[in-house]
Amino acid sequence: MPVKILMVCLGNICRSPLAEGILASKLPKDNFIVDSAGTGSWHVGHAPDKRSIAVAQKNGLCIDNQKGRQFKTSDFDEFDYIYVMDNSNYRDVIHLAKTSEHKEKVYLILNELFPDENVDVPDPYFGAVNGFDNVYQMLDEVADIISEKLIKRHS
Ligand code: 4NP
Repeated sequence: MPVKILMVCLGNICRSPLAEGILASKLPKDNFIVDSAGTGSWHVGHAPDKRSIAVAQKNGLCIDNQKGRQFKTSDFDEFDYIYVMDNSNYRDVIHLAKTSEHKEKVYLILNELFPDENVDVPDPYFGAVNGFDNVYQMLDEVADIISEKLIKRHS
């Protein structure tokens, strides 16, 4: 059974599609499945934001074929690890968890890089273009740590 990892942000068009693409590129496809979702429903069925597609492309990744979807409670059973991008996503997802087992699957992603500091991946949606470069670099760095950890733990 492959290990399943879900990346979650608010809209599922800027940060979590990048997080999905970046982490998937660092994990062997046979053993790991990476998906993403948004806590909000505005962008269900939409492709990622053009600026996320562009920064991914610039770094050699194609995320064009992803489609936005909303986080749902069955994701707690479906996925082994749920990484959220910011503290607000954390609260929204934890609020939907019904058991402690579900809650224990939810991690604030940058805590893998800066343990216990509860740092957000800033939402670049309303910001400047280089916000996307910044987000890409943060996610690339933390995905190195997560992929190493998961490969060690599940092989
Ligand atoms: P994301 O960014 O959570 O990184 O996908 C956002 C995208 C869209 C909206 C908010 C955040 N929105 O309000 O439509």
